[in-house]
Amino acid sequence: SQVRFDYSLASNVISEDEIKSMEKITNDAKDVLLSKSGAGSDFLGWIDLPVDYDKDEFARIQKAAQKIQSDSEVLLVIGIGGSYLGARAAIEFLRHGFYNSVSKEIRKTPEIYYCGNSLSGTYLKQLIEVVGDRDFSVNIISKSGTTTEPAVAFRIFKEMLENKYGKEEAAKRIYATTDKAKGALKNLATEEGYETFVVPDDVGGRFSVLTAVGLLPIAVSGADITKLMEGAADMRQTCLNKDFAENDSLKYAAIRNILLRKGKSVEILCNYEPSLHYVSEWWKQLFGESEGKDQKGLFPASVDLTTDLHSMGQFIQDGSRIMFETVMELENPSLDVTINEEPVDLDGLNYLSGKTLDFINKSAMKGTQLAHTDGNVPNLSVKLPKQDEFSLGQLFYFFEFACGVSGYILGVNPFNQPGVESYKANMFALLGKPGYEAQREELMKRL
Ligand code: PA5
Repeated sequence: SQVRFDYSLASNVISEDEIKSMEKITNDAKDVLLSKSGAGSDFLGWIDLPVDYDKDEFARIQKAAQKIQSDSEVLLVIGIGGSYLGARAAIEFLRHGFYNSVSKEIRKTPEIYYCGNSLSGTYLKQLIEVVGDRDFSVNIISKSGTTTEPAVAFRIFKEMLENKYGKEEAAKRIYATTDKAKGALKNLATEEGYETFVVPDDVGGRFSVLTAVGLLPIAVSGADITKLMEGAADMRQTCLNKDFAENDSLKYAAIRNILLRKGKSVEILCNYEPSLHYVSEWWKQLFGESEGKDQKGLFPASVDLTTDLHSMGQFIQDGSRIMFETVMELENPSLDVTINEEPVDLDGLNYLSGKTLDFINKSAMKGTQLAHTDGNVPNLSVKLPKQDEFSLGQLFYFFEFACGVSGYILGVNPFNQPGVESYKANMFALLGKPGYEAQREELMKRL
């Protein structure tokens, strides 16, 4: 079973002629991607990652994960953006929905908390409280090794580890995932003797979930990283080798661009399972950072349904007609609940007795898709067969490949992120970082 793309509900707004004309453009974009002849071609390492990765490092990741599982009650994953979202997306999708709060007997693996993805002192103070005096390890993840948010959080937890275990023992509980040679984190790791894992030069942050960046925390959570890679490798075969008619990732790339050209400037990724929330967060970074440049691009948004039908549903049904939806449908959830009959039907729900929550959820989904279609919001669908590693590996690759192709259709470099730097310079100036004195003076006048 495969992750599949279905646009049949949008056939009223997209003609076969439009698809035909986009087919050529899409195939050209795919050729540019695979021949590495387009902008950003230094960052295409992700294309072959599922089949061409460092097997020794992969084994080291599994070994490190086992050590963390055996000597730590808590793992802190420190990273931001592409150095954080993939791991969280996978762990929340693949493991227990109440991972940190369910009993240890059920979870079996360390609690996992994420930090270094904001600058909130309250969050860090409370996290320190959560860790308490329990045994813990840290995975600090930063490709550049200089990003402020994770660096600040790491300084705090490094000190906490050293106070608790002493410098030498603390070093054995710190795992650094960073560039193979450069950056402050690499230097620090070498100096202090931390075990290190590599973010390959040719893989950008948002495409790095299948490197040590994602794989170490995912392995610590108890999910099967071998199956995740197998799923991605399977989807890679399809993406690279199938013609347009049978290549769902290419069709998704084509159709979202058709809709953009028709004036739909927002794509909302919808899910009906809370476990997919962080897959949407990962997807927003992937597409937002890849396509939002040169004053162009679809704005990637997301909603959790049916939850947000009670908040954003009104706008989607009836507000500005600027969006289309892509629904991630989990076809076969692993768990379910059935509604029982009650002798007296006080709550009026007996008409649902014998029905499963999945049946009710899918009915809500289908009803919503039709209602939104009628409200002029084209609906696309990405079908995910199962809540498992193989399906998720497929889904990650499906979106990554579509993103590369879609970016080239749009005419941007999908693999850089020049806009991410602007806030950093201002922040450094305001914080008084050496070298930013002139900019600081300018900014202070404006505040
Ligand atoms: O995709 C990106 O490049 C960014 O989101 C980065 O992943 C993020 O800024 C973290 O960067 P780094 O891994 O260098 O700390």
